[in-house]
Amino acid sequence: MEALQIIVAIFILALASSLTFASDPSPLQYFCVAINDPKGSGLHIRKNTSNIFGSTVTPVNVAQMPGLHTLGISMVRIDYAPNGGLNPPHTHPRASEILVVLEGTLHVGFITSNPDNRLIFKVLYPGDVFVFPVGLIHFQYNIGNTYAVAFAGLSSENPGVITIANAVFGSNPSINADILAKAFNLDRKMFLNLLPSNSEQPAKLTYIIMKGIRSILIAFGLFAFACSSASAYDPSPLQDFCVAIKDINNSGTHSRLLFVNGKFCKDPKLAVAEDFFFSGPNRPVNTSNPVGSNVTMINVDQIPGHNTLGISLVRIDYAPYGVNPPPFYIGKTAAVTFAGLSSQNAGVITIANSVFGSNRPINPDVLAKA
Ligand SMILES: *[C@@H]1O[C@H](CO)[C@@H](O)[C@H](O)[C@H]1NC(C)=O
Ligand SMILES: *[C@@H]1O[C@H](CO)[C@@H](O)[C@H](O)[C@H]1NC(C)=O
Ligand SMILES: *[C@@H]1O[C@H](CO)[C@@H](O)[C@H](O)[C@H]1NC(C)=O
Ligand SMILES: *[C@@H]1O[C@H](CO)[C@@H](O)[C@H](O)[C@H]1NC(C)=O
Repeated sequence: MEALQIIVAIFILALASSLTFASDPSPLQYFCVAINDPKGSGLHIRKNTSNIFGSTVTPVNVAQMPGLHTLGISMVRIDYAPNGGLNPPHTHPRASEILVVLEGTLHVGFITSNPDNRLIFKVLYPGDVFVFPVGLIHFQYNIGNTYAVAFAGLSSENPGVITIANAVFGSNPSINADILAKAFNLDRKMFLNLLPSNSEQPAKLTYIIMKGIRSILIAFGLFAFACSSASAYDPSPLQDFCVAIKDINNSGTHSRLLFVNGKFCKDPKLAVAEDFFFSGPNRPVNTSNPVGSNVTMINVDQIPGHNTLGISLVRIDYAPYGVNPPPFYIGKTAAVTFAGLSSQNAGVITIANSVFGSNRPINPDVLAKA
């Protein structure tokens, strides 16, 4: 029963979200499936990470799954090689990201925009969740000696990726070495040696540069600034993020207090990694209830840094078939799924509860006729 309720609720949510986040041009219909059928994603398979960065990103966006078109959401699987697999500093110009670690130990972080360029970072273990605000430069680095795997939801069907090193040092054609030298306050000769004559192998080149140049943080800040301006929406928070606060006494500078999406925003200068972090959804929860399933929400109430980011995550546990057989779950073992939702506070309308369990019952004549 609950399985049905969840399926229906998620369907309704998908409809609601696509309406709420309707872009211009609006789809003017509930969803828009393009011509190809969604294919088996292979997201359960470990990917080959034998490359220069030791990481592989497997996207499931509108390019792979046409049914995502207009839904404002997509996901990725990221594999990291042991001892230093790196998803290098990059930004998604059109999406916030919520990442959950399933295996391994990741050092993750993002950098706020100018003038602070503050690195907000955290070490994540399996079951830990972290949020990367839209447009900000972020990375994940495997500091464990085992493979690491993470899944992430992104609040766009086509989030876009700007890998900083590729953009700055691997553009085609190359940025003038004088410009880079001045921007990074470094010797021009260094860039002449580093820049590819015909932009070949930007990945290898940028790997070397990433290791060597601390000043690249300046470029990160510029990019973050550019991206956060470009992706401003209405109502725009007009800052990198809005960490929701319950107690306005802890908000820092009171004169700058913003109120967005029903929450007051913490002074961004006072934001800490914990504001973007939540731990726990790797643990099974109790499914011994009449409907044989249990939904764990991870939204703005669990992660205050979620506010204004338009994305959240749920874990859904399903009891094994046989304990309490719901008609839609067909396995003999307990099952678990994670789902990304394209709102910071997706809301749930369980049809049975709202139609038959409303506070003040709906007139039976209305229900009978319906
Ligand atoms: C992984 O990729 C590398 C480089 O392309 C290749 O040499 C290697 O054989 C691959 N490993 C597997 C297990 O496919
Ligand atoms: C906030 O500060 C005001 C005045 O300083 C105080 O009266 C109030 O109790 C505080 N609120 C909380 C939740 O601590
Ligand atoms: C879901 O699991 C949690 C933790 O095990 C438990 O406290 C809660 O009562 C469960 N909810 C339902 C509906 O079974
Ligand atoms: C799960 O919840 C049921 C009903 O509330 C309870 O009887 C049972 O002891 C719980 N199981 C665990 C492992 O907590």
